[in-house]
Amino acid sequence: MTSIFRFAAAVTAIVFVAACGPKEKSVKIAVAVPLTGDMGTEGQGLRRAVEMAVEEANAAKRFPYKLVAAPYDDRADPKEAVNVANLIISDPRVVAVIGHYNSGSAIPAAKVYARAPVAMVSPAATNPEVTAQQNSKDWFGPRMVFRVVPTDDVQGSYAATFAYTRLGLRRMTLLHDKTPYGQGLAEQFQKTFLRLSGKIVSEDGISVGDKDFKALLTKIKSDVSKPQGIYFGGLYTEAGLLLKQMRELGLNDPFVFISGDGAKTSGIFDVAGDSADGAYLSIVGVPVEELPSAKAFVDSYKKRWTGSGEELKPFDHFGYEAAQVIFAAMERAGSPDRVKVIAELKKTKYTGVLGTTTFDDKGDTLNKIVTMTRAHAQDHTFPSVK
Ligand code: ALA
Repeated sequence: MTSIFRFAAAVTAIVFVAACGPKEKSVKIAVAVPLTGDMGTEGQGLRRAVEMAVEEANAAKRFPYKLVAAPYDDRADPKEAVNVANLIISDPRVVAVIGHYNSGSAIPAAKVYARAPVAMVSPAATNPEVTAQQNSKDWFGPRMVFRVVPTDDVQGSYAATFAYTRLGLRRMTLLHDKTPYGQGLAEQFQKTFLRLSGKIVSEDGISVGDKDFKALLTKIKSDVSKPQGIYFGGLYTEAGLLLKQMRELGLNDPFVFISGDGAKTSGIFDVAGDSADGAYLSIVGVPVEELPSAKAFVDSYKKRWTGSGEELKPFDHFGYEAAQVIFAAMERAGSPDRVKVIAELKKTKYTGVLGTTTFDDKGDTLNKIVTMTRAHAQDHTFPSVK
């Protein structure tokens, strides 16, 4: 540990003790995710999962202080994520951060957490840069970014191999939402698809919030290269609108739509209705309903969260696991000290809902499983493609 971080550790410890009077010893785990807007549904799920983990830890008296899950709304907006990160680091009771959901938010927010330093464990951000940026020469701080999800080089390459080998596709159109996540994922798809000798006949960027894709889709439909499908890097709202408008223009089976983890959520059915049927959507990990190690988590979640709109969301088990990994590090550290927790997180070997989680030098999980699912509009499910 460099002297500046030793100093930061000492300050954190002193402030923590000062902030906790004898009557109110509490320690916060920040949950920094989108809580409002289109992506709010996903972030609220993560908040519920972390809250449940915290409640369980408190009920089991796992720590000699009370744990609190403190939610912060980054609105899926990189600028707001930085604001929220600054707010978080200025609260000495925050020992670690679970977040962010979007890679576009996680990348700049991580730089703020590094200055504190405070650990950030992402339950959803998949762009390689989220952790890789820690190797850049202008990184100020220790390595303190971790994530429990595999990265988009794995996911994009997997989807391209699936398209080429399994579906026999040779000509694809590439679309993305110009965000670090969407564009990064589409580029990873492209890289592998080209290496396999597939052809990318066109590439276009759209913007988050765009609503009308008819002109773009008409151009794709009349392309003389006859693309066999669209690969889209982006989130469920734009994916749903693309699917709806594709079908309206007659782009149906065998023309395919393939996208990734940011599009695979029940919201896509709210946007596209039956038009979502048949869309191929890759996810990180294994669908939670098909994961034996997640059964107890799913049962507890369904018992704990029964309100309307409180159903399990696709990343919730990752949020729960991120919390467990942090709790285990806090136990080993023997105190809720930010710097000690970072050091212990690096040594993680935790077996839980996701199987065994360990991190590489960058903080990326060594669990690299990706699964292809297919949207089933009739019952709003996404069974994995066997
Ligand atoms: N995996 C998506 C992202 O990184 C949610 O933004």
